Amino acid sequence: MYSKEDFGEGFRWGVSLAAYQVEGAHEADGRGLSIWDQFSNRKNRIKDGSNGNVACEFYYRYEEDIALAKSLNLSHFRFSISWTRILPDGIGEVNQLGLDFYNRLIDCCLRYDLEPWVTLYHWDLPQALEKQGGWTSRIVVNAFIKFADVCSKSFGDRVKNWIVMNEPSTFTGMGYLVGYYAPGRFGINNYLPAVHHATLCQAEGARMIRRNLPNATIGTSISCSYIAPSSENPKQIAAARRVDALLNRLHIEPILGMGYPIKDLPVLEQIEKYFHPYDEELIKFDFDFIGIQNYFSLVAYNNPLIPYLQAFVVPFKKLNRPLTSNGWEVHPEGMYRILKQFSAYPIKELIVTENGAAFHDRVEGNRVHDNQRLQYIQSYLGEVLRAKQEGVNIGGYFVWTLMDNFEWRAGFRSRFGLVYTDFVHQTRIIKDSGLWIKDFLK
Ligand code: GAL
Repeated sequence: MYSKEDFGEGFRWGVSLAAYQVEGAHEADGRGLSIWDQFSNRKNRIKDGSNGNVACEFYYRYEEDIALAKSLNLSHFRFSISWTRILPDGIGEVNQLGLDFYNRLIDCCLRYDLEPWVTLYHWDLPQALEKQGGWTSRIVVNAFIKFADVCSKSFGDRVKNWIVMNEPSTFTGMGYLVGYYAPGRFGINNYLPAVHHATLCQAEGARMIRRNLPNATIGTSISCSYIAPSSENPKQIAAARRVDALLNRLHIEPILGMGYPIKDLPVLEQIEKYFHPYDEELIKFDFDFIGIQNYFSLVAYNNPLIPYLQAFVVPFKKLNRPLTSNGWEVHPEGMYRILKQFSAYPIKELIVTENGAAFHDRVEGNRVHDNQRLQYIQSYLGEVLRAKQEGVNIGGYFVWTLMDNFEWRAGFRSRFGLVYTDFVHQTRIIKDSGLWIKDFLK
């Protein structure tokens, strides 16, 4: 078994959280509504009929939770800023009470000696902007630049680490192509402009932070999964390449000046309709790091009947691997492969900004013996180390997540925390996986 020291000095150990998933207090202190408030209050959208109105009450209990993270010997704490606490209508008037909350939160992190990592956008677009077209409309770009400006000016004296976006391919694909996440829209004519505006915002938001904070460390977080072809047949290999272009390369290659991966996924050609002059330049940015978010791997099958992609994917479960409670297969080697894949790009540093797993946790006495999560984290971390020892420049590992929270479409049934949340009494129990982390980082 490896030790913390094997990862080297200066390796960042942290946890990641997102505003809508933990904060609750949805009407407190002038907060405006986001697309997730709207979506989760629609019928049959969230599996257990829940919403994020209360969640973990992190808005009120943040100090307790920060103390918990500290007690696990973590040194980095990632959270996102709710856009509508700062700008309730997405643009226009700044809400001082919203700024006050994040000032308290940041100060609290620093008091506990946890380095704050701020994600600007973790999926909670202001509903006021959605009404004007949301990510499909170019208006989102100026609004996002303003949001980045206000946040970096307000918090930049204490926050050094910035993540502009969380998983643009997830929120555009799930939210605007297949309608499975907020705002629940679908179709290629929603999807492609949403993709392009998200790519633009990724770079434009970063540029605004850089302008205000020349010494900040700026990154963006990309969801990625190792995609295996279903066989060595050239048709299957081409199918895997199309899926890889869609799921892994769509938001990283434009940043690097390579453009969208149109060659491998011709339908993306239509995205050029949404370009304005100079967009090829504007979508580039020299990030200090790229956040890697990896959970599972997929197998791709060629299928001409599937529109645009002409392929479909299934989890590795076909190969009889263990599954998490939300049906994702446990495939630690996929983490290694994806880190190797991304290391071929000219990226300064990779940081695993999310990795973790949901299982059916049970409280026994005052303990949660989440052995499967423990094994999951240990095995994935082992693969991070393998890649690092082979020379991939990996600077940190953040577990998703500190405590069980509102898991989007799955509601509260999907528990990802190192800490168990009793949502009725708002109590927390450190799970065995959390106790292992604590011991490992000691
Ligand atoms: C990520 C997302 C997180 C969390 C996690 C587990 O895609 O960024 O917010 O939900 O998945 O599903």
